[in-house]
Amino acid sequence: MRPSFRLAKLLPVSFPDALTPMKIDLHPACELFPKLGDSDLHELANNIKENGLIDPIVLLDGKVLDGRNRLAACEIAGVTPRFKEFEGEGSPLAWVVATNLYRRHLTPSQRAVVAFDLLPMLEVEAKERQRRSPGRGKKLAKPLATLSSGKSSQFAAKIAKSNSAYVEKVKSISKKAPEIIAEVKSGRITLNEAVRLSVVDPKLRKKIINEAHKKSDQPVKRLMRKLLVEHSASQPLPPNSTKKSTIEIWCGDCVKLMQDRIEDESISCVVTSPPYNQGIPYRTYDDNMIDEAYFEWMGKVFTEINRVLKPDGSLFLIIGHSARKPWTAMQVAFLANHHFKLQNQIVWVKSISIEGKTHGHFSPVTSKRFLNHLWEPIYHFTKNGNAAIDRLSIGVPYTDSNNEGTSGAKLRCQGDVWFVPHETIHGAEERFEHPATFPPEISRRCIKLAGINDETKVLDPFCGVNGMVAASQLGVDGIGIDIDSHYCKISRKRLSL
Ligand SMILES: C[S@@+](CC[C@H](N)C(=O)[O-])C[C@H]1O[C@@H](n2cnc3c(N)ncnc32)[C@H](O)[C@@H]1O
Repeated sequence: MRPSFRLAKLLPVSFPDALTPMKIDLHPACELFPKLGDSDLHELANNIKENGLIDPIVLLDGKVLDGRNRLAACEIAGVTPRFKEFEGEGSPLAWVVATNLYRRHLTPSQRAVVAFDLLPMLEVEAKERQRRSPGRGKKLAKPLATLSSGKSSQFAAKIAKSNSAYVEKVKSISKKAPEIIAEVKSGRITLNEAVRLSVVDPKLRKKIINEAHKKSDQPVKRLMRKLLVEHSASQPLPPNSTKKSTIEIWCGDCVKLMQDRIEDESISCVVTSPPYNQGIPYRTYDDNMIDEAYFEWMGKVFTEINRVLKPDGSLFLIIGHSARKPWTAMQVAFLANHHFKLQNQIVWVKSISIEGKTHGHFSPVTSKRFLNHLWEPIYHFTKNGNAAIDRLSIGVPYTDSNNEGTSGAKLRCQGDVWFVPHETIHGAEERFEHPATFPPEISRRCIKLAGINDETKVLDPFCGVNGMVAASQLGVDGIGIDIDSHYCKISRKRLSL
């Protein structure tokens, strides 16, 4: 369907023979749309050579408003171009956009860039209209000039058939990494990929863009993932403690490795999140066991954890559920209760909305029955249910200083609801290619709560890629085990082991 936009009247114009296409300036609106690539341009040139120029090139004030590719193709084909002058009542910019959106198959990301590029042009156009026709122009120009940034994005987005959120994304990228905009405009990378690229180290960004240009046959997404993982994993973790910890990452089955290599009652604190048997796509482990087999295996895991844990040690078990298997977390916790005593239950809140503002991140659940899933339980088990914990090591300040304890403590226990959002990530590669990580802040709190001293030794038998990060930052010794060699490799790289 043709654009519903009211088409401008196009008047034929003639140009002196001496005026070659090369001498005609381009109207800035021409820059709104990406140039054709070489092969497409030559295809257009062949077509024009065979069939002549069907749509004339449109000029405004002597500049090419629409048709720079046709003009270039005419030149290649050796065909004299035909021109028409734009003489419409509507906005020439809006006309160019409507015509090109109809003619070219732009992705939503490309349309967002068109809208973004439109913003300053619309401003100029509105002022020009005001200058030419003070009464009417003022009416049209005023709103644009006075629109808030969000509203003008909405206005431009409407013309470019985009949406204002996308335009705002382009705006934010253009501030952080303006060089990426051309990549989005060319269709080489999507807006979401650009958002991710905009926050990486500029040198790495340049490398990714150069590689993407060289290997144009490879999806940029895969290339980005590879380079981002390599880069992030090679970055040293910022230390929180000056004490150098001894961390070991063991690759293999945790039950076997605990049996073979960990002494009885040698571990102070286990913080772990086992597979939930919910079909998570890990690289090696198949997260779709028959339930009976899964619970039997978990039982063996708890037996070993119990054996290696010191008498006053703590097990923090982080395990979630899904709408499909709502009982799993509770069943596993109940099973653990055969081996330990449940001492605390903590709610880990990943995202929360307070007074209309959402904090944190979550994966939305598309359902007519189920709510978005924003929390996970953390079960704190000890051997006899009365292990002392260091509540104030993760305490929070009193809101009212009158409530400060008689001991002079400035902090109070923060309680058993922890808001710990996942870091803002934009894809699997920023999660170090692991599909089910928890933020290191969770282990940090658990390790501190269990109490830290010179003898502290932490274990995560399912350590994925994040399990040992907090131990390393806190300067305590630790052992992380994972069955997947790639996750272990990433862990070691992250911990500079
Ligand atoms: C929920 S993830 C843990 C993620 C980790 N907490 C993190 O933040 O990176 C569970 C992990 O258990 C590992 N795994 C599965 N079976 C295992 C086994 N028998 N022994 C050791 N690790 C295993 C999986 O490879 C996966 O990385």
